[in-house]
Amino acid sequence: MTICKTKNELFDFLKTYRNSGKLIGFVPTMGALHQGHISLIEKSINDNDCTVVSIFVNPEQFNNKSDFDKYPNMLEADIEKLKKNGCDAVFMPSMKEVYPEKDNRVFDLYNLDKYMEGVFRPGHFEGVVKVVSILLEIVLPNNTYFGEKDFQQLSIIKFAVKKYFPNLKTNITACPILREPDGLAMSSRNLRLNTEQRKAGAEIYKAMNAVKKIECKTLKRLKSFVINKINESDYLNVEYFEVVNPETLQPISELKKGEKYRACVAVFAGEVRLIDNIEIYD
Ligand code: PAJ
Repeated sequence: MTICKTKNELFDFLKTYRNSGKLIGFVPTMGALHQGHISLIEKSINDNDCTVVSIFVNPEQFNNKSDFDKYPNMLEADIEKLKKNGCDAVFMPSMKEVYPEKDNRVFDLYNLDKYMEGVFRPGHFEGVVKVVSILLEIVLPNNTYFGEKDFQQLSIIKFAVKKYFPNLKTNITACPILREPDGLAMSSRNLRLNTEQRKAGAEIYKAMNAVKKIECKTLKRLKSFVINKINESDYLNVEYFEVVNPETLQPISELKKGEKYRACVAVFAGEVRLIDNIEIYD
């Protein structure tokens, strides 16, 4: 596996693939890699001739400085995992390499950022769009992989790439959420949970899974069931739980038969903020 710290190193590495028309797959990450990330990498390896993974903890998308400061950094272990899983190149740029100057671009995300994460993490999605667009311009991949774990992020990136960066011509592939055996969605942030919080974390998926099939519930009853079930734990505190239209991300006002929705949740376990989502249907 080739380790690239600069754009030039990566250009050089990718040149032979590009010149011979080989397919390049790309998985952007912030490191502290777990099996969820690896599942995206496996998909990319399967679909492409060459897979590039980036590791860059993007300050622009952290609205909370202490969350940024505490973001796990385990580069050596990450590199080992990438080698073991057949990744071709890892791109680990410095701040200067990604942001040679302040990125003052402003993106209208057409209300996709007005709900859920967008409400509680102001500026987060603009920061994500900035860094993803910069990374895509550097890697110029044929295929790029994102997880449904960050459902709103995935929708916003799909939208922004189509609207603002049509020249990039990269296909965005959505990959399913990988979970721990007890149901907790895998996340780099799980490393920061203490034993009690980690155990309680399983209640998040359990509560959402219990309403996966709506079965004549009203929206109000469904929401209060999930919120109360999670908050019953001494270690968990729901920040929001929304049932949204999976295209517009707009919270719905009533459940209709035959429709599919996304139920999305953010929960604090102590200081650690966990998110999860699930498709629900009637
Ligand atoms: P990060 O949280 O490291 O996630 C990198 C990718 O892995 C994202 O597409 C995310 O949705 C996916 N992922 C994380 N946990 C997953 C799980 N349990 N199952 C499936 N996929 C999972 O998301 C980011 O980084 C950043 O915002 C980034 C896109 C890299 C921009 O900085």
